[in-house]
Amino acid sequence: MVPMMNEQSGDPLDEARRQWSELNEMLTKSQQAYYGADAPTMADEAYDDAMRKLQELERTHPQLAGPDSVTQRVGAATVTDFSPVTHRQRLLSLDNITTQEELTSWLARSGEGPWLCEVKIDGLAINLLYLDGKLSVAATRGDGRVGEDVTHNVTTIKGIPRTLTGNEVPAVLEVRGEIFFPVADFADLNASLVEAGKAPFANPRNAAAGSLRQKDPQVTAGRPLQMIVHGVGARDGLELTSQSGTYELFASWGLPVSPLYKVLDTPKAVEQYITYYGEHRHEVSHEIDGVVIKVDDFAGQNSLGTTSRAPRWAVAFKYPPEEVNTTLLDIRVNVGRTGRVTPYGVMEPVVVSGSTVEMATLHNAHEVKRKGVLIGDVVVLRKAGDVIPEIVAPVVALRDGTEREFVMPTHCPSCGTELRPQKEGDKDIRCPNSRSCPSQLRERLFALAGRGGFDIEALGWEGAAALLAEGLLVDESGLFRLTAEDLLKTDLYTRAVKKSELEDPAKAPPGGVRDGRVLSSTGEKLIANLQQAKEQPLWRVLVALSIRHVGPTAARSLAARFGSLDAIREASLEDLAFTDGVGQVIAESVKEWFDVDWHAAIAEQWAADGVRMADEVDESAPRTLEGVTVVVTGTLAGFNRDEAKEAILSRGGKAAGSVSKKTDFVVVGENAGTKAEKAEQLGRPILDEDGFRKLLAEGAAGVLTAE
Ligand code: IVH
Repeated sequence: MVPMMNEQSGDPLDEARRQWSELNEMLTKSQQAYYGADAPTMADEAYDDAMRKLQELERTHPQLAGPDSVTQRVGAATVTDFSPVTHRQRLLSLDNITTQEELTSWLARSGEGPWLCEVKIDGLAINLLYLDGKLSVAATRGDGRVGEDVTHNVTTIKGIPRTLTGNEVPAVLEVRGEIFFPVADFADLNASLVEAGKAPFANPRNAAAGSLRQKDPQVTAGRPLQMIVHGVGARDGLELTSQSGTYELFASWGLPVSPLYKVLDTPKAVEQYITYYGEHRHEVSHEIDGVVIKVDDFAGQNSLGTTSRAPRWAVAFKYPPEEVNTTLLDIRVNVGRTGRVTPYGVMEPVVVSGSTVEMATLHNAHEVKRKGVLIGDVVVLRKAGDVIPEIVAPVVALRDGTEREFVMPTHCPSCGTELRPQKEGDKDIRCPNSRSCPSQLRERLFALAGRGGFDIEALGWEGAAALLAEGLLVDESGLFRLTAEDLLKTDLYTRAVKKSELEDPAKAPPGGVRDGRVLSSTGEKLIANLQQAKEQPLWRVLVALSIRHVGPTAARSLAARFGSLDAIREASLEDLAFTDGVGQVIAESVKEWFDVDWHAAIAEQWAADGVRMADEVDESAPRTLEGVTVVVTGTLAGFNRDEAKEAILSRGGKAAGSVSKKTDFVVVGENAGTKAEKAEQLGRPILDEDGFRKLLAEGAAGVLTAE
C-alpha cells in the first residue's frame, strides 16, 4: 500500500481515492469471476472502460497506484486460457498488523505459544496437489477457491519436486507456498525484455506472476523462479500435529522449506525476529514485506479457527512499504566533479521510507535504456531504508502514449564541449573540458572548500556558483588571489550599503562600495577564511587539489610520508605506491595529475600566493632516527597512525608501509596482522609501545642496548 499523505477531508485526493477504491474493487471482482470461470460479471466494453478510468486516475494521482491495484496485477488486461482449477481446500488470506500494540494483543489472543515465525515472501501464492506423491496439478490462488492451472509452467521450476521422495507420502496432499523471482536477477530480466522490445515488469512480484503465466513453458523455464512452501491444505492419509513438524516432513520429502523459519516460545523472541528481519530484509534473496506469525501447534490452530477470509491462528506483521509510485517528470543530466555526465530522474515528490524524494540517479544512458523508463512514465520508486532512492521500473500499464524517450546529450550542458567516454567501451561519458567546465569547476571548488579539504566555511555550493558566474575564477588556481573588490561583483557576498556607512568615513567598509553594495559578513568571512586556509596542513592541500582517488586517508599517508608537495611530485611511482594506504592505483593517479600542465600550475600559483605546501617539521624534536626505517603496525594506545608516522618523520626517520629486510624496527600494537608475522620471519627487531617511545627518545642505540 502507498502511504496516505493527506488525510484531511474535503481534499480532492479523498474523492479520487474513493473513486479509485470503487473501480478497483469492481475490476478485482470481475477478474476473479472471469478467471474463476464463473459467468463474467462485466461486459468486455464496460470492463475496458472501467480499467481506462482507473488508469487515468492513477496517472493523475500516482500515489494511488500501489501494488493492490488491478492495473498492477499481471494478466489484468490480458485474456488467457489457463483452465480453472477448484482447490480442494480454500486458500485463505492473512490479516495484517503493523504496530507493537497490535502484535502484543494478537499474541495474547493466540494463546501461550510457541509461535512459528517466518518471513512473508512478496511473491505469488501457489497450490500444489500431490496424489500418491506425484505432482498432479499446480494452480494459482485465484480467488482462493478457484485458481488457474499452471502445471506445465510450474514443472519447469527447479526445486519443485514432481515426485515426493521417501516413504509414507500421503494419498492426497495440497502444499501451499509462494513462487518468487529472486531480487538479484530482476534488473537483468527487465534489461533483456527492454532489449527485445518488450515491456519491463514493475517489480519482482510481477515478474514472478508474469513468468508463471506464460503460454510457452520454455519461457518460464528460462526464468530463475523459485518456490518456498508455507502451508498445507487438504490431505488424506497424513497425521500432522504442528506447523514446524509439517515443514520438517515436507523437507524430508524434498519440498523447498524456508531456512529462515523459527519456532519461538516468548512474545519477546517474536518481537526480536520481527525487528531482525526489518533490519535485514535486503539480505534475503527475495523481497519480503513482513513476517508471518503462526501458532505452531495444530491443536491450538484448530481451537482458534478461521474467519471467512483469514485464519485467527496466523497474522502478518507488515513492514512499511519501501516502494511507491510517482511520475517521472523529466530526465536531466548532471556534470560531476570528474566530468562524468549522469542522467537523473526528476519526479513528482513522494514520501518513501520516511523521507520525501524527488530525484534519483539513473547512472548513465545505458541504465536508462535497461530500465526501459520513459519521461512521463509512472514509475516504481524504491528507497530501501537509508539507501539512496532508486527508480526500479516503469508501470507500463499506465502509459497513455504521451511518454517520450530520453536522449542523452552529445554536448556538455554546462560548457558545450562534445562529450566522450574516457576509454573506448566505457558506459559513462564525460566532459573532457575538466579545467574550466563551470559544472566541474563548481563541484571541485565545493569539494576543495569542504570539511575534508581547506575547510573554507564561507565557500559553499552557492558561493562556488556565484564566483564562477561572475567569471572571477577560470580554475582553482586563482582562489587565493580573490580580493574584497572581486567579491563586490557578486550578490551573494555583498549587501546594500547603509546610509550611515556612506556618511561616516570612520565606518568605511573594507573593499569599498560598488553599485551601492558593500561586502557582507559572509564576504568578509570568506576573505578571512582564505587567509586561514593558507596555513592548513599538507594533507588538506592534497585533498583540495582534486586528485582522483586521493581522499583524506591517502592524503594523510602521503603527507606524513613525504612532508611536502615537492617531495610528492619528485617521488617515483614505486615510492608513492609503497606508501601505507596508497598502492598502485592512487600512485598512478598522483603521477598523472602532476603531468597535466594546468594542474601543476594550480599548485605553483597557490604556493606563490602563500599556501603552505609543506608540513612544518618539529625542529625541537631530536633527530634520533636519522637513517632508521620503522614500520608501525596494529593499534597503539598513545598514537594514532598519523601521529606515529609524524613522530618518526620529525626525528629524521623513515616510516615505511611494509616490512622488508631493510626495516630496522617493527613496532607492534594491538591486533597487528601479517606485518608482525613477517617481521618475525625476517628476524627484524620488534618493539612494543614502550619500546617505541624509547626508540623515539634515544634512537636505535637506546633500544638495542636495552635488550
Ligand atoms: S501463510 C492460512 N506464510 O501472503 C495462511 N503466507 O497476504 C496462509 N505469503 O496468501 C498464508 N509468505 O500467499 C503464509 N510465509 C508465509 C507467506 C505467505 C507470503 C502470502 C500468501 C498469502 C498472502 C497473504
